[in-house]
Amino acid sequence: METCEDVRESVKKYYGNRLESSCDLNTSAPSCSLSCSVPKIVTQALSLVHPEVTKRFYGCGLPFPAKLEGCKILDLGSGSGRDCYAFSKLVGPNGHVTGIDMTEELVTVSRQYIEYHQKKFGYEQPNITFVQGYMEKLGEAGIQSDSMDVVLSNCVICLCPDKRAVLQEVYNVLKEGGELYYSDMYASKVVPDHMKKDPVLWGEGMGGCLFWKDLISLAHNVGFSTPHLVSASHIVVHNDELKAKAGDICYSSSTYRMFKLPKHPVVTDATVTYKGTVADCPDQLDFDSSHCFKKDVAVEVNGEMAAILQSCRFAPDFKIQKLDKPEPCSESTPQYCHLNPFLLADKLGNAVKQCSKTGK
Ligand SMILES: C[S@@+](CC[C@H](N)C(=O)[O-])C[C@H]1O[C@@H](n2cnc3c(N)ncnc32)[C@H](O)[C@@H]1O
Repeated sequence: METCEDVRESVKKYYGNRLESSCDLNTSAPSCSLSCSVPKIVTQALSLVHPEVTKRFYGCGLPFPAKLEGCKILDLGSGSGRDCYAFSKLVGPNGHVTGIDMTEELVTVSRQYIEYHQKKFGYEQPNITFVQGYMEKLGEAGIQSDSMDVVLSNCVICLCPDKRAVLQEVYNVLKEGGELYYSDMYASKVVPDHMKKDPVLWGEGMGGCLFWKDLISLAHNVGFSTPHLVSASHIVVHNDELKAKAGDICYSSSTYRMFKLPKHPVVTDATVTYKGTVADCPDQLDFDSSHCFKKDVAVEVNGEMAAILQSCRFAPDFKIQKLDKPEPCSESTPQYCHLNPFLLADKLGNAVKQCSKTGK
């Protein structure tokens, strides 16, 4: 696997021909990896998806943010379409879902069930489209710039050799205030080059996933906000040979969310008060693993969080009051401990641990 093209062809074979069902993967994360309970509307939406689609689900998390109704969303690496069909229910008849995947066999499976779900959800027209294409070339695949409210993905970006290109394309297709919310695999340290050349390690996500800290610099370089860690679990490697190859590297399945902020956001600390207006979240809105906004309770947030809440689709759900405070003295280097998925997975204790180290 020398070039990006070699890697893509190898991944296509891995998911198109080699695997028949989710059980064929050598790694697994607990299906409920959220730090908070899964909203009922999400479990209901997932339960309505056709079993033939669900059978070929290869995701590692649950990338289902709140308030999707009416949104235009894009699922990167949609596979057989399980998450897309659940999103199709959640966005409702006025929203739209586009799934993009490069593997013909999976795109073919996903397209077979469009009418089934349209009828099941009682929609006059389908609100879903599946595109065969590459997520690092969204423009070429016909996805318009500034057109998406939310981009989602489930265990896909770790399979792509050019992660910067993916994030850059996502940034381009998102509307201002839009977000990338995705579950993926992360390593506790930088994965060495020799592991990247192994097609099975790569196909399982173990060869190509990012060291979690590298996501932060990548996101900032592209122009996104700092990523917010939503949930995390340890990944269990079942196969002894792969486990030996991984050595002391641990893997986590984690969900992060990051936002496309306005070009020149007003970045000042603020107090924000959640109004309780997001459907199915009347008492509190679990925004990420460190921010759980309770209805009618004012909390102080930093300037970047204030800018996010002011510009994203949750803006009408918050009262935001800027604080007239001097800028805090800048710390030398932020440590981002609260963004470490291994620490969060340890804290939540929702996984079987394979090794004792955490990627601090
Ligand atoms: C682990 S599977 C996950 C599929 C789906 N998200 C799910 O949860 O079932 C990874 C998927 O990403 C797709 N994929 C990998 N690299 C891609 C790329 N560069 N562009 C588009 N799709 C890609 C593969 O074809 C495969 O369907």
